[in-house]
Amino acid sequence: MTSIYDAIAADHDKHRKLLDTIAETSGDTPERREAWAAFYTDIKSHSAAEEETFYSKLMSETWGQDAARHSVHEHAEIDEILEELNGMDMASPGWLTRFKTMKHDYEHHMEEEEDEVFARARKVIGKEQNDSFGKAFLDRKKTEMGLVEEKKEDHLAD
Ligand SMILES: [Fe+2]
Ligand SMILES: [Fe+2]
Repeated sequence: MTSIYDAIAADHDKHRKLLDTIAETSGDTPERREAWAAFYTDIKSHSAAEEETFYSKLMSETWGQDAARHSVHEHAEIDEILEELNGMDMASPGWLTRFKTMKHDYEHHMEEEEDEVFARARKVIGKEQNDSFGKAFLDRKKTEMGLVEEKKEDHLAD
């Protein structure tokens, strides 16, 4: 059994590591490509699963609404930069500058989720529901990963 908080935080730790790996690589190399592809798929499905299972619950209660809206808005902003980066040449200096902006913003986003948002969520999601929300999140994330991969393949086929 994994609580919703542990499930989200475990993903964040994975994302922090991938961000560092990408920042340490340079140019259009297999290492950077691989870390970027892993990060892209994981953050997209993570954020979608958060919205579907975690933030939707927070939004349903007054106490969680503001924090949830703020986070979902940040998801959209980060997603925009992700798509921008996907369309750019990773060997260009512009790519790294944009990547660093996204890394900074997303690290701040994760920190905020783990501190402020989790504190609010603990007042909305009863302790006895921690594991069922964790399971819903993980199930949803799996589905979302499939959808992200499908989209990538469609894109390549175009
Ligand atoms: Fe998030
Ligand atoms: Fe998150």
